[in-house]
Amino acid sequence: MLTIQGVEAGYEESMVIRDMNIEVKQDQVICVMGRNGVGKTTLLKTIIGILQPQKGDIYYNSEDITRIRPSQRAQKGIGYVPQGREIFPKLSVYENLLLGLEAGNETKIDKKVYEYFPILKDFAKRNGGDLSGGQQQQLAIARALVSNPSFLLLDEPTEGIQPNIVQEIQDVIVDIKNSSHTSMILVEQNLDFVKSVADYLYVIDHGSIVYENSIDQVDDEAVYRYLSV
Ligand SMILES: Nc1ncnc2c1ncn2[C@@H]1O[C@H](COP(=O)(O)OP(=O)(O)O)[C@@H](O)[C@H]1O
Ligand SMILES: [Mg+2]
Repeated sequence: MLTIQGVEAGYEESMVIRDMNIEVKQDQVICVMGRNGVGKTTLLKTIIGILQPQKGDIYYNSEDITRIRPSQRAQKGIGYVPQGREIFPKLSVYENLLLGLEAGNETKIDKKVYEYFPILKDFAKRNGGDLSGGQQQQLAIARALVSNPSFLLLDEPTEGIQPNIVQEIQDVIVDIKNSSHTSMILVEQNLDFVKSVADYLYVIDHGSIVYENSIDQVDDEAVYRYLSV
């Protein structure tokens, strides 16, 4: 479904990720772990097209999408939940969701997002910036879901969020995996959560994949060794 082949990408002079090879099949959830600064966000930005790779190719449903714009990738069904949520603080919750619709091909907000995150219905008229961090994260996920993506990129959706909302977000991601045919790449630091949702794990260090395995064969100690500072 998504193939990342020999991708090298970064910022101006500094190459951040090198020889990245990742394969995500239909209905699969891939997790990417790694210490801060190893290139996880850079990888996702390259997949959604905010960054252009210097080398390599990205295929989505067998089509080469390496050179098309982020908006076109969204039209093709790739949803993106950026690290740090990046919702629009001066717009209402509802308006933030409408912007999510514009990214894709849907015309109505699926009521499923309100079932997932009832708070977004209760707070529809509030400014996004007035929500708590965890609620903003829920809004960011909902904003990606309203376009009904077939592929979802999630960058640390539970980072810095109070535990009760972390659980809600984890439950939703597990439910998306089980109930819709949405493939995902999830960047996440919590190995227990990763194990509850992922099929396959990649660990990145210094911009390269240093460990990969099916989730049921993951060696926890090896993973923790790469994650420790
Ligand atoms: N906009 C940018 N300009 C220049 N360097 C950047 C930029 N964003 C990130 N970097 C650098 O790229 C490296 C990888 O960053 P990032 O992909 O955000 O890592 P991670 O998501 O794994 O924490 C870091 O060294 C970071 O300082
Ligand atoms: Mg990051």
